[in-house]
Amino acid sequence: MGRIAFLSVLLLSCATSNNAFPFTDGLLPNGNFELGPRPADMKGTVVVGRYAIPKWEISGFVEYIKSGQKQGDMLLVVPEGAFAVRLGNEASIKQSMKVVKGLYYSLTFSAARTCAQEERLNVSVAPDWGVLPMQTLYSSNGWDSYAWAFQAERDVAEILIHNPGREEDPACGPLIDSIAIRALYPPRLTNKNILKNPDFEEGPYVFPNTSWGVLIPPNIEDDHSPLPGWMVESLKAVKYIDSVHFSVPQGKRAVELVAGKESAIAQVVRTIPGKTYILSFAVGDASNSCEGSMIVEAFAGKDTVKVPYESKGKGGYKRAVLKFVAVTPRTRIMFLSTFYTMRSDDFSSLCGPVVDDLKLLSVRNPRRM
Ligand SMILES: *[C@@H]1O[C@H](CO)[C@@H](O)[C@H](O)[C@H]1NC(C)=O
Ligand SMILES: *[C@@H]1O[C@H](CO)[C@@H](O)[C@H](O)[C@H]1NC(C)=O
Repeated sequence: MGRIAFLSVLLLSCATSNNAFPFTDGLLPNGNFELGPRPADMKGTVVVGRYAIPKWEISGFVEYIKSGQKQGDMLLVVPEGAFAVRLGNEASIKQSMKVVKGLYYSLTFSAARTCAQEERLNVSVAPDWGVLPMQTLYSSNGWDSYAWAFQAERDVAEILIHNPGREEDPACGPLIDSIAIRALYPPRLTNKNILKNPDFEEGPYVFPNTSWGVLIPPNIEDDHSPLPGWMVESLKAVKYIDSVHFSVPQGKRAVELVAGKESAIAQVVRTIPGKTYILSFAVGDASNSCEGSMIVEAFAGKDTVKVPYESKGKGGYKRAVLKFVAVTPRTRIMFLSTFYTMRSDDFSSLCGPVVDDLKLLSVRNPRRM
């Protein structure tokens, strides 16, 4: 008790001291690039000088972009404030910050592709790194937010975002804006549920001002999940959505399965062979103009159920159940969407059914009921 009180006093007294204490939630210092280089440190839009952008260290061809600036006949928009950066070939931005050694953190950043080529970003906090592909557009304005998680191995994290591309046009390369961090708390098991983080309430930072959710890339690109307890399987991302901008069945967060059978979430749980279990969950839509006949497939080991859901794109959900007998000491619980769906308001961004509020319990076990 005394220790908790002491810690909160410490946190309060450090809240104003500008990043001297590891903070756990929010935009990085100048994480939206609203503080820009002095005119003397610019050549047109290109930033010259390693430390020209306050709080950041840059290398390579980095441009400082103002919202409304034109590129060919394309008008560049910026999601947060009026400025963003563009990372050209082999360009990178870097910032160091204090963290708590051993804790897991998730970074969330917004990025937009500007040229036709396939673009990728290598996000790293040594020794962890992950290459996130930007080639699939999920939102119609070109911007998407991505989450990537790491475990702090030291008490300082050097956050590095690098464009490994080598395009002919050096000005090609993704725009980046709004980089935030959030400490993740490992979910605890309770006696009311065998699943960890069953309602997805614990997850990456969501920008209060962006209305397109956060993409959680598949684990191939990310060893530590930004969605504690869960793995994103298959080839494509799932979308993490919040109740401020979307309709979610329960609590403040949920997962939208945006890439048909190419995106799935899974968790492996301990089970007792021979015992009967009931997996119950909510299937709905995010109220984002994602209309049509949808099907969510739930798996528990080899057992499966297909849950049809007719979406009018205006929110709503139904509950479904999968009853199964465990055959192994570990059972893989997995969810995917059978179909691809496009939003009816732009016909270009992927969307899909929402899953939330999962419960997994064994039946006829008085200790657990
Ligand atoms: C990504 O960046 C890290 C840190 O700089 C580096 O060690 C790693 O090799 C890079 N990965 C790729 C595929 O470029
Ligand atoms: C969100 O937008 C409002 C109004 O545009 C602005 O005042 C506020 O600072 C923004 N919040 C964040 C976290 O950027």
